[in-house]
Amino acid sequence: MAIEFKNNKIHLYNDSMSYIIEISKQNDLLSLYYGARIEADDIECPKRIHGAACCQDGNDYSLSLFAQEYPSAGASDFRSPAYEIETDKGLHTPELKYKSHKIIKGKPPIKGLPSVYTENESEAQTVIVTTADDVHGIEVKLYYTVFEKLNVICRHSEITNVSNPYIYLNNAQSVSLDFPAGEYEYIHLEGAWAREKHIDRNTVHKGIQGFESRRGASGHVENPFLMFFDKGSNEDYGNVYGISLVYSGNHRFLMEQEMYETVRVQTGINPFNFRFKLNKGESFVTPEAVMVYSSNGFANMSNTFHKLYRTRLCRGKWCDKARPILINNWEGTYFNFTKEKLLEIADAASKIGIELFVLDDGWFGKRNNDNSSLGDWYENKEKLEGTLAELAEEMNKRDLKFGLWFEPEMISPDSDLFRVHPEWAVSVPNVKPHLSRNQLVLDYTRADVREYIIERLTDILSNANIEYVKWDMNRNMSDVYSLNLPSDCQGEFYHRYILGLYEVLEKITSAFPDILFEGCAGGGGRNDPGMLYYMPQNWASDDTDAVERLYIQYGGSMVYPASTVGAHVSAVPNHQTGRTTPLSMRGTVAMNGAFGYELDLSSLGDYELAEMKKQVEFYKSIRELVMTGDYYRLLNPFTSRHSAWMYISEDRSKALVYYAVKEVRPANETAFLKLKGLDENAEYKINGEIKSGKTLMNYGIVIDINESDCYSTIIRLERV
Ligand code: DGJ
Repeated sequence: MAIEFKNNKIHLYNDSMSYIIEISKQNDLLSLYYGARIEADDIECPKRIHGAACCQDGNDYSLSLFAQEYPSAGASDFRSPAYEIETDKGLHTPELKYKSHKIIKGKPPIKGLPSVYTENESEAQTVIVTTADDVHGIEVKLYYTVFEKLNVICRHSEITNVSNPYIYLNNAQSVSLDFPAGEYEYIHLEGAWAREKHIDRNTVHKGIQGFESRRGASGHVENPFLMFFDKGSNEDYGNVYGISLVYSGNHRFLMEQEMYETVRVQTGINPFNFRFKLNKGESFVTPEAVMVYSSNGFANMSNTFHKLYRTRLCRGKWCDKARPILINNWEGTYFNFTKEKLLEIADAASKIGIELFVLDDGWFGKRNNDNSSLGDWYENKEKLEGTLAELAEEMNKRDLKFGLWFEPEMISPDSDLFRVHPEWAVSVPNVKPHLSRNQLVLDYTRADVREYIIERLTDILSNANIEYVKWDMNRNMSDVYSLNLPSDCQGEFYHRYILGLYEVLEKITSAFPDILFEGCAGGGGRNDPGMLYYMPQNWASDDTDAVERLYIQYGGSMVYPASTVGAHVSAVPNHQTGRTTPLSMRGTVAMNGAFGYELDLSSLGDYELAEMKKQVEFYKSIRELVMTGDYYRLLNPFTSRHSAWMYISEDRSKALVYYAVKEVRPANETAFLKLKGLDENAEYKINGEIKSGKTLMNYGIVIDINESDCYSTIIRLERV
């Protein structure tokens, strides 16, 4: 791996990938190539001429004709700009020119923002390219990091007001890529509450297309992730570019195919209601975009993301460690619990080998429904019949760790906190705010709010043996206005909120390094890499129905490793869909992630508890592989009744094949599962038989699906 500068080209490469930038004679930064490894000397920017283009130097050089690294607005390129500014004098048509560059070892952190990291400087190199427009008085630094062992390039930019009294930054994308004319498709992960991360595949067409969030969070509706690829690509074939934004707020992904059929792809902060004032000397740093290139389809892209996010985005003690099996009381009791009930559930959990008890919503203030108390982070001793410390002790006596739910970004109008500090809630003065789940958002742009939350959580986490925290967030942002910001800085609110959130998360998670944190936002409302930097797992969805989870987890697997996916067995009929699925299938599907249970175990009969005990034992024997194995999608639930996927250890000696069918049909087809990733020259033990890797991958294994609706199985393979 290296970053080389030669003949005015900056070439970032490793053994299998190249990314080449050219500095033109006019000092513009042009994009030359991004794809499989090539030699930079062999290529140059194609010269294009167009009569109607806007040119400064004769009729043959216009930026609208070239692929660019960080395009400006309003000069000679009419496509979507990567950034937009307006100076105090009203200038708004800058053109950035190359000034210098610096190549450094490793990857510098981004202050105040989550980002991928290196553990050793030799893992990556970074080039920082400085560009500027002297008339507009701005400088833009572009950061590019290339990894040696993974086909990963990380990008972000830093925009500085060098000489104006002030400027407004109206748009700041993290990355802009110009792909050559071609036929392309894309996949994004669309959804809704309880239906997150569904695959939506489209053909790239002329004009602007894309997706975004305006919800103040990355959101249930559009995950901040794009797969852009050659038309016809599939799991094993095609040039695929995965682009993931390490950000938890309003994002935008844009694709623009213009008249020459080239495609500009961008992502960054959504320009919607975004206007950031930069006084002289101040800079704005964009979130990081992580780009993964695969020359052979989706599976390779996913495995690169999985490895990178598991080991170089998630941090701390738990980042790469097998997770404890948990029981969460939410769907078991909702708000309606007593200490006795919790201990009954704990007794049953402990008997079947569960390792962690999570007390969900309802333990604080006077919260017995979702109408009150958010912000009043004081234990309700009456309801708990004692303290949290005592409850934790009871759990520990039963060989269970103790975990606790919080929703620290919210405030209930019916709370002591609101009565004392109504100005801490996000709302527009003199306008009745829109409630969602009867709650308002705390203004995290305010230092006093952040201090209060840190103080409350620190107090609770220090005074009881709490080993897990679920950090929830249950509404989108409306009525966005902060009394903390001057009127011409209200456009900074969304981003400053996220910066405030990241500051709180950094402080809390580093003060309690042993606690396992799980992010949640009404399920998957903030399942994004930004949150994973602080919390190594995320509750994937409030939908715990096993069939629905097949879709949700299939979509999520495109980018997020199983170690980060919270997945639970819940009661039937399922509380979200009313569907009844067998316990075996609920187990199979939940074992495709950080496994747990979420139901009233104390109400179950001996038979079910015995089955669950077997599940718990089984998961303990496979969880290492689930957490760290390579992942292959075998059958797609969006296009088939069947669903299948597999994990395989890095040394290819152990594998797990998961299979589930939504519904059986009479006279149905035979399901062949062609396995992937095995050593074709090795032999594997499978269901008591020995078969060659070649056979298993080419002929496959036959699944007997004549059993029943929602039949599922997990098959183990071991190299002999
Ligand atoms: C939404 C979460 O996604 C649920 O799991 C649960 O924690 C509730 N909030 C509690 O209010």
